[in-house]
This record gives sequence, C-alpha cells and structure tokens, in this order.
Amino acid sequence: MLVALARGVAPGRRDAHASALLPRPLGGVVALAADRPLARGLLRGVTLGLVDHIALRTAALDAVVEEGRERSIPQLVLLGAGLDARAWRFGAHGYQVYEVDHPATQTFKRRHAPKGAAPIYVPVRFGDERVADALEAAGHRADQPTVWLWEGVTMYLPEDAVEDTLGQVRERSAPGSLLGVTYIEPGGIHAAPGIRTMVDWVFEGLGEGLGARYRPDALRRLVSRHGFVVRRDGGSETWPRLWGGEPRMAQLVLGAERLCVAECAGADSD
Ligand SMILES: C[S@@+](CC[C@H](N)C(=O)[O-])C[C@H]1O[C@@H](n2cnc3c(N)ncnc32)[C@H](O)[C@@H]1O
Repeated sequence: MLVALARGVAPGRRDAHASALLPRPLGGVVALAADRPLARGLLRGVTLGLVDHIALRTAALDAVVEEGRERSIPQLVLLGAGLDARAWRFGAHGYQVYEVDHPATQTFKRRHAPKGAAPIYVPVRFGDERVADALEAAGHRADQPTVWLWEGVTMYLPEDAVEDTLGQVRERSAPGSLLGVTYIEPGGIHAAPGIRTMVDWVFEGLGEGLGARYRPDALRRLVSRHGFVVRRDGGSETWPRLWGGEPRMAQLVLGAERLCVAECAGADSD
C-alpha cells in the first residue's frame, strides 16, 4: 500500500491507477494530493524520501518493460505484484501480463482492481509453492521469452526462497528473457540507527520483516548460477528520472536498495 501511495503522488508522472487500488482512506488521500503540489510535497517529506525512491525505482523498472516491448517479448510476469498497476499501464500494449503474489495480497487486489486489461492472477507463496507449476497451469509459455519483474520483494524472503524462486524462473525463461530484480545490500536501511530500528519495527509490524540481503557481486553470482547474465546494476543515483524522484531524497532511508537487470542467455550459459 505504501508503494502504491508513493506511485500515486510521484512528483513528475503519478500513477493514475494508484488511488483506485488503495483502500479508503488512503485512496482518497492520494486522489486529493494528486493535484495539490503542497500536499504531495508534504507526503514526500513525511515518508522520508520513500515517494522519491519509489518514483525512481518505477522509472528504472519501466525501462526494462519498455526494452522488452521493443524486442517484442510477449509475456510480462510480476513476481510479488502487490498493488503494482503495470498490468493496466502496459497490458494494452501487447504484453500478456501474469501477476504472481501471495494469495492474501491477491484477494485484496482483485477487489480493488481497476476495470479493463486485467492480468492473469497466479496465487503462490514463494518458498512454499512451485511458481513454475502455477505459471504453467495459468498458460504462461516457457518456450517464449518473458520479462520478469521482481520489485521490492526479495528483502522480505529468506535466502533459500529467493534461490528456489530464481531456479524456477530459469526453468520458464526462454533465451532473451529479461529479469529486473531489486535487492537490499547488507548494510540495510540507510539512516541514523534510531530511525533504522524504527523502520525495522514498522516492517516487522506489517508482517514484512526484512529478509535476504546481497552485495552486488553476490547477487551477480546468484543470478549467473541460474543462467542470467547481468546487463546492469545500480541504485537510485543511476536510475532514470522519468517519474520525477530526486536521488538525494531517495537515498534517505531506502538508499540501500539496488536494481539488477539480467538477460537469460540460453542453455549453454549454465
Ligand atoms: C513491498 S510489496 C511490493 C509490491 C510490488 N512489487 C510493487 O513494487 O509495487 C511486497 C510484495 O511481496 C509479496 N510477498 C511477500 N512475501 C511473499 C511470499 N512469501 N510469497 C508470495 N508473495 C510474497 C507481498 O504479497 C507483496 O505483494
């Protein structure tokens, strides 16, 4: 919900679907703030840069989706889709969109989903259930390339669940498939220790305690083990500014989150 709120008030290009996807009163707050620069500025401040971080992250991952579209990749799979509106933003542009998520999150989303261009919902608990089998049953084609986005999820999972899921992503990735995965470095949250502890409590309280963390070289080795070649890896200071976020604000609390973009090179890369 926080991510959708941030996208709904992103300073440059806001996500027009965010307010519909959010429950009241949050959806109302986003709708109200949308056209009021002062209110949006206030939200950027009280979220300690989360709005800016998410704005830049959205732009960086949208660039991966655009790249897939230019290459005519037919499938987009959002792993841990949450209240992401990409199915509505990109679904009408040639992608078959699959949303894989925890069943509880998905039940909530289906109740709030905007009209039109609905994704194919694939309920899965990472680490407990086979995402590869669920995608096969849902109609996903392993013989055609896929754009996989795994945005803001690995940090909530234990390392073995990340590894297991990546192995299954590999099973269903035809050569040329693209993977955009965000992760948090071991230092974790960038902030004064007091704020860091508070942020950890907030996440724990939301039932989303922080899990796997990787250094960029460890993440590179992990995706390589699963047949993906890293094309780029960076943080908010290098992400495109399309959604209007400001890198210095973005670094305040979530500066340790990075995005790795990798490509599946085919069987002989194993
Ligand atoms: C912070 S949200 C990110 C949502 C979305 N990717 C975005 O950026 O808007 C984390 C997502 O991970 C999902 N998630 C966390 N643990 C999970 C698990 N064990 N199995 C499936 N989904 C999980 C949650 O349901 C939620 O949708």
